[in-house]
Amino acid sequence: MARVVLDQVSKVFPGPKGELLAAVNAVSLTVEDKELVVLVGPSGAGKSTLLRLIAGLEVATAGTIAIDGCVVNQVPPQDRDVAMVFQHHALYPHLTVYGNLALGLHLRRVPKAEADRRVRTTAEWLGLTPLLERMPSALSGGERQRVALGRALVRQPKVFLLDEPLSHLDAPLRAQLRADLKRLQARLGATVVYVTHDQAEALALGERLVVLRDGQIQQAADPLTLYRRPANRFVAGFIGSPPMNFLRGRLEPRGETLEVRLCAAAGSPSPFALAIAATRAAVLEGAAGRDVIVGIRPEDVRLQPHPATNAATPSVLTGTVDLVEAAGAEAHVHVRVLGQAIVARVPSDSPARPGQVVAVEFAAAHARLFDPASASGVALG
Ligand SMILES: Nc1ncnc2c1ncn2[C@@H]1O[C@H](COP(=O)(O)OP(=O)(O)OP(=O)(O)O)[C@@H](O)[C@H]1O
Ligand SMILES: [Mg+2]
Repeated sequence: MARVVLDQVSKVFPGPKGELLAAVNAVSLTVEDKELVVLVGPSGAGKSTLLRLIAGLEVATAGTIAIDGCVVNQVPPQDRDVAMVFQHHALYPHLTVYGNLALGLHLRRVPKAEADRRVRTTAEWLGLTPLLERMPSALSGGERQRVALGRALVRQPKVFLLDEPLSHLDAPLRAQLRADLKRLQARLGATVVYVTHDQAEALALGERLVVLRDGQIQQAADPLTLYRRPANRFVAGFIGSPPMNFLRGRLEPRGETLEVRLCAAAGSPSPFALAIAATRAAVLEGAAGRDVIVGIRPEDVRLQPHPATNAATPSVLTGTVDLVEAAGAEAHVHVRVLGQAIVARVPSDSPARPGQVVAVEFAAAHARLFDPASASGVALG
């Protein structure tokens, strides 16, 4: 059993001018036994600090950290049975790769034959077998990172804490190791907290993602929920690439239900509206007249050739293509519409080219609405 429970954990550092900075702010989180949880957020969000708190390398300013039901706030790192791979790892320069992998086992008095078996299995898994006799100075950055990962894996601790363990690897190796790590985690039944700033990596790896910003949890959910039902505008913009588009709008009554009237950049309502399904409108009851931010994923933007008219047709939302980026099977088309910039994800054989005038349509059913008045842009529905 290795269940990690954080209850209202905070870590405050003194800032450069003596002010106090909460790197981690009242975080409550349970990582279940055998679960892989991914902490994701931008630089400075507090990810490494949170991991270091679980490892015991930082002392919490407030709150409790429990592993297996025991509060470990006062337990030193070596007695917590956790293994951490650091963002900026260091190997023992005077030991070979084999020596680096084996050291932790020797210190823990694991019998020699057992240690040798574990080192060789781990090396095989990480593709380090041909490098076992090399010194760290003779390894590439990616190879060193694999040795650092190996040192944690070989120990078979209760909890693995991995801080951007794949960041120095090239893209194909990173993808391969990520998949291997996921399989191994399931096979070993290991409890893992994995930190990354890369949302694509987080989506690929995690069953449960915890999005952090400014030391606070923004949302904890499975990848699809984060993508489809982001709790606030930050999560909406952070998860998904290209990011969600945001347009200004106003909720207005339409018969029995509601519509979102899209607004130009200046805020003035345009003739274009997105219908809101009756079920959603019920949730938004009383919200008519309210300003909203409309979130639309790039795949929910459709571009059509503009109908041939000399004046802009009022029934067609018109945009101008600004830029086209190739992305393999698809292309990302940057369009200016209603004085705002949006991105459409279209098949790469779509004929869009810069300067082209296009008709723009949105899949209204997938649109998400956010409250522009709240600081975090909380989702309205
Ligand atoms: N020892 C320290 N003293 C003072 N401030 C610190 C200390 N460690 C971290 N911080 C601050 O706490 C905040 C969170 O830092 P942390 O390293 O946890 O971020 P992170 O999410 O891991 O970022 P990155 O993706 O860049 O690694 C930052 O603003 C950082 O400057
Ligand atoms: Mg970090």
